[in-house]
Amino acid sequence: MDLLTGSTHLHITTWVLAIILFLVAALASKKLTGVQMALRVVYILMIITGGALFMEYRDIVTEGGMYYDMKVLFGVLVIGFMEMILARKNKGKSLNIFWILFGVVLLVTLYLGLSGGIGMNF
Ligand code: HEM
Repeated sequence: MDLLTGSTHLHITTWVLAIILFLVAALASKKLTGVQMALRVVYILMIITGGALFMEYRDIVTEGGMYYDMKVLFGVLVIGFMEMILARKNKGKSLNIFWILFGVVLLVTLYLGLSGGIGMNF
């Protein structure tokens, strides 16, 4: 599992890719089915790489209590909001509140990830 947990670069690659694909699909004027399918594949890679980090470090990072579980929860919430935005966009429904929630959840996830004590730390 060293490939998955030796550094956080693989996980970072997956969520950067996901955000790019998501923005391309969400901001396009028509439905980009191929991009949305690629995005779903990237979700799986993101969950695998994040899940590997979780299993590897959850016992080491003890200060902060439930912090580690929150990181996973918020990571999954980001995926949820991406899917909700794309589904509502394709149906022509309003998105404003979903964009706001997506932004908030994304920022919380970035904060929790970066304050985790492994990988990059600010
Ligand atoms: C768009 C969604 C996501 C974003 C923006 C995100 C962001 C991040 C960031 C910035 C880090 C820190 C990397 C480093 O310090 O080098 C990180 C680490 C991590 N991520 Fe994610 N992530 C996302 C999704 C997920 C998911 C779905 C999971 C779980 C299945 C997950 C689990 C983890 C774990 C366990 C860590 C290690 C935390 C640490 O100690 O730093 N992430 N993530």
